[in-house]
Amino acid sequence: MDMKTPLIDPFQRAISYLRVSVTDRCDFRCVYCMAENMTFLPKKELLTLEELDRLCSAFVRMGVQKLRITGGEPLVRRDIMTFFRAMTRHLDSGALKELTLTTNGSQLARFATDLYDAGVRRVNVSLDTLDDAKFAAITRWGRLPQVLEGIEAAQRAGLKVKINAVALKNFNEDELFTLQDWCADRSMDLTFIEVMPMGDLGNENRLDQYWSLKDLRARLAERFTLTDLAERTGGPARYVRLEETGQKIGFITPLTHNFCESCNRVRLTCTGELYMCLGQEDMADLRAPLRASADDAVLEDAIRAAIARKPKGHDFDYSRQNVAGQVTRHMSHTGG
Ligand code: GTP
Ligand code: 5AD
Ligand code: SF4
Repeated sequence: MDMKTPLIDPFQRAISYLRVSVTDRCDFRCVYCMAENMTFLPKKELLTLEELDRLCSAFVRMGVQKLRITGGEPLVRRDIMTFFRAMTRHLDSGALKELTLTTNGSQLARFATDLYDAGVRRVNVSLDTLDDAKFAAITRWGRLPQVLEGIEAAQRAGLKVKINAVALKNFNEDELFTLQDWCADRSMDLTFIEVMPMGDLGNENRLDQYWSLKDLRARLAERFTLTDLAERTGGPARYVRLEETGQKIGFITPLTHNFCESCNRVRLTCTGELYMCLGQEDMADLRAPLRASADDAVLEDAIRAAIARKPKGHDFDYSRQNVAGQVTRHMSHTGG
């Protein structure tokens, strides 16, 4: 493949990580992510799998080394394995270092082996609670046993599993050690995420839900010796090792510690919008240049122009006892 000049943004950050939301649909309705009755995009708005391939391949030529497939729930998109298998060629060529996904786990029992065969080695599964009733409440439509079966199937297929849990006050505070222990037993890493003010907040109050990871970390330190680790997976998480169990715990702290200065990522939606920051409204339409010409030069120019607009960071802030920097877009639009 003819490699191009890498993508560098105005703050000298190299863009090497593309997150691609392949569908806005999901079989769950997590309360912090979606409204209960969402209107989804008509199918004709979606990029075809061939178009997604062309776009991702353009990014790979321009230096993207890590591709994460998200949604909605990526595994509910029809024929999605065709797309994963198409991306395998970029792993084989060495251009792409990692092909991975973030999933709610509901379809993993069905797809784990195919994912492994396509070259996926690691999956991030969102799981906020191990309690059946609480799981049903937070996901509205999800059922815990199905997800647990999916996780088991993923591990059986040889996939490394990382659990992502949104830290929520009065919801999973009491499960900190249950989750930690459960992951340790199964050799899974665990990452906590601070809840971000995204979506139509309506009568939900993020401040009431917000559990700072400073506090969570202090709770962990009451029981374990925490050692900060320098290693990175290329995402925003910072890791510690619990010396007593040897396991790794990650912290994604958009509120207490902004990690934007080392941001290496942009996100593409299923209609071809490129969001240069999760926490800002600005985006660039890549579908028009994609469809305007079969010549990728037009597309590459549009991508470069978009990266030149990448903002310094998000403006999420709860510190003045109100919610600032909110974005109205739902998380399911860009896949986190
Ligand atoms: P690893 O490869 O395991 O490091 O994955 P990752 O942390 O990059 O991906 P994952 O999908 O697990 O991301 C977890 C969550 O972190 C996302 O769903 C978002 O909620 C949050 N996140 C990721 N990137 C950003 C970012 O650039 N800004 C903000 N504010 N949050 C982000
Ligand atoms: N704040 C933080 N994380 C969120 N996620 C979804 N909505 C939010 C939010 N408002 C997480 C999910 C999943 C990932 C895709 O994003 O739990 O792990
Ligand atoms: Fe679906 Fe994930 Fe959003 Fe939950 S957080 S509604 S599982 S996309």
